[in-house]
Amino acid sequence: MSGAPALLQVERLTKRFGGFTAVDAVSFSVAEGQILGLLGPNGSGKSTTFNCIAGMLKPTSGSVRLQGEEIGGLSADQVCRRGIGRTFQIPRPFRDLSLLENALLAAYYGAGEAIGREEAETRARDALRLAQLPDDPHAATTGLGAAGLKKLELARALATQPRLLLADESLGGLDAAEMRQAADMLKRIRDERGITIVWVEHIMGVLLSVVDRVVVLDHGAVIFEGTAQAAQEDERVAEVYLGPPEARAA
Ligand SMILES: Nc1ncnc2c1ncn2[C@@H]1O[C@H](COP(=O)(O)OP(=O)(O)O)[C@@H](O)[C@H]1O
Ligand SMILES: [Mg+2]
Repeated sequence: MSGAPALLQVERLTKRFGGFTAVDAVSFSVAEGQILGLLGPNGSGKSTTFNCIAGMLKPTSGSVRLQGEEIGGLSADQVCRRGIGRTFQIPRPFRDLSLLENALLAAYYGAGEAIGREEAETRARDALRLAQLPDDPHAATTGLGAAGLKKLELARALATQPRLLLADESLGGLDAAEMRQAADMLKRIRDERGITIVWVEHIMGVLLSVVDRVVVLDHGAVIFEGTAQAAQEDERVAEVYLGPPEARAA
């Protein structure tokens, strides 16, 4: 991947809540067209990192650049309109709206300029299809299980037509087969649309089979960066996930 320009460049990103440092001088970059896995145990600062990039939180310090332009501290809608879409760890659809209406709102929100109903609907339907939601776009959200809700979350992010997709815990609540599907879907979104992806998970599992690179956080700091293969062989990563060698079950 060397030589590819960084689409997203995060440098010494820091977020403090009072005296507590949730994200501690985190640096990483993602080249255009890559899938980066951002891993780490619960509470390691993954979602806070996302929220700082996506404008939900103001970084305490550090820099976030999209194609070389500083976006750190911009509002969520500004960041969205620059081309960053994100999903939430806890799906938050508008429960009273249909699948299509949910995606439509996202399409209007992401456009940043007045787009007509027809254009919005094209974007919304395309996003629902890409996320492989059931055929009836007028279906209610209430019929969706965990996997369906995750797909809708993805569809809403895609309807904003992002260049960069931040996917937060896409595997939460899914069974093994659904996890495999979710991983394949993210890969297809990248392969077919060229959308760059930062994929957050606290478990490694199927993520390792589709990511180009992995960054591992622990207590808000980067403890590893490299290939999926190297992550699986790294002693510090093992320690974070499994505990010190002497404490691991034989
Ligand atoms: N708004 C907040 N105020 C105070 N502490 C927070 C806030 N958001 C997150 N934290 C803390 O920051 C740490 C990192 O949280 P988070 O980024 O959600 O972790 P992860 O997504 O890796 O599980 C946790 O200890 C969490 O309790
Ligand atoms: Mg999280």
